[in-house]
Amino acid sequence: MQTMEHYDVIIIGAGAAGLMCAAETGKRGRRVLLLDKADKIGKKILISGGGRCNFTNLNTNPAAYLSHNPHFCKSALARYAPQDFLNLMRKHGLSWHEKTLGQLFCDQKAPAIVAMLWEECAQAGVVLRLNTEVDTIIRREAASFHLQTGSCTLACTALVIATGGPSIPRMGATDFGIRLARQFGLKSVPFSPALVPFTFTQDVLDGLFAGLAGVSTEVAVSCGEGHFREYMLFTHRGLSGPAMLQVSSYWHKGETLEINLLPDRDALEWLSVMQQQRPKTELKTLLAEALPNRLAQRLCETLLPNRPMGQYGGKQLQAISQQLQAWQLTPAGTEGMRTAEVSLGGVDTRELSSKTLEARKVQGLYFIGETVDVTGWLGGYNFQWAWASGWCAGQYA
Ligand code: FDA
Repeated sequence: MQTMEHYDVIIIGAGAAGLMCAAETGKRGRRVLLLDKADKIGKKILISGGGRCNFTNLNTNPAAYLSHNPHFCKSALARYAPQDFLNLMRKHGLSWHEKTLGQLFCDQKAPAIVAMLWEECAQAGVVLRLNTEVDTIIRREAASFHLQTGSCTLACTALVIATGGPSIPRMGATDFGIRLARQFGLKSVPFSPALVPFTFTQDVLDGLFAGLAGVSTEVAVSCGEGHFREYMLFTHRGLSGPAMLQVSSYWHKGETLEINLLPDRDALEWLSVMQQQRPKTELKTLLAEALPNRLAQRLCETLLPNRPMGQYGGKQLQAISQQLQAWQLTPAGTEGMRTAEVSLGGVDTRELSSKTLEARKVQGLYFIGETVDVTGWLGGYNFQWAWASGWCAGQYA
């Protein structure tokens, strides 16, 4: 006969948001069960930031998040700020360093962050059960949920869904969160890949991009409302690097990227001065002083007419400058969920309280972290959302 276990709160998903929520809920004296289908906790934390975990960003602000309701994230981000997470790290003797653009990395590496979160959970009496998949969830009455797992039935008054998004499916990531929301009659925004490399057609890869894989250069890139200044990397499939990952979250199929290859200078002014001072120097030689050599050569073999500077007319210099500062490229697609760092979409924020993360229509049901339609920029913003939303739900569940 199947056994029935009772808890106050069950949290499905022992990732960033679930661990934070479990610790906070447990501290309030609630009997908490943290469930995960994986064989260990915090798997995405462990692989993040190249193993060093870019755990937050000092510049965290709502404008760094994409959502159908850009106001939704404000409350949680204001109530649990990067400084709160730093205080937690201080308490556990962990230290950090800023790499660039406010991105903080853990000196003791990612496993130390996971160990810290688990220590908080253990001290708060949280029960952990790994390798556990939930087959069905039934709501018996207001604020009473029954979860069927292979071996037993679990009952709770508050149920928190912290199952993340479907990016990197080989790690077991799925769209469980929005499937569950649908079961309870809650709307959601379909998940789609974000912070993901672009792919290009074979024609572009064999032509314009030939021989450029591995070349990296700082650019300013724009697409729709996304504008970023960071490094771009040519790959065997297309374009990656932080600039491209960032702007991918704003890109829709068919749209064109505008790339400024010389973000630090006015190209026309520079080329005009060089024309006066070095009329015999070829364009490709000049460009190699401002861009990686291979890129300068390739541009002059494909896009730009290569001549000694003195031979260009004014209109030609203008056209070359335009190509360099507003290079238009249309990706064929993205590498998809296979390599996406996060996913856009999730449970529709109109269904949730921004203060508690509880579903408005289903008392006792909470959604936190990447499962919610809030997606951050690259650089620690996604973990900050996971900590903040997990912390907030942890005060109420
Ligand atoms: P998360 O994915 O962390 O956790 C979900 C948990 O739910 C998992 O443990 C999963 O096993 C479990 N689960 C799923 N379905 C289940 C089910 N049906 N039953 C039971 N359990 C289930 N962000 C950042 O800010 N800085 C960074 O450096 C990085 N780096 C990075 C690198 C890579 C390679 C990736 C893929 C992602 C990042 N991220 C990142 C993004 C970051 O990892 C992500 O935003 C958070 O982990 C989201 O936290 P959640 O807790 O919402 O989901």
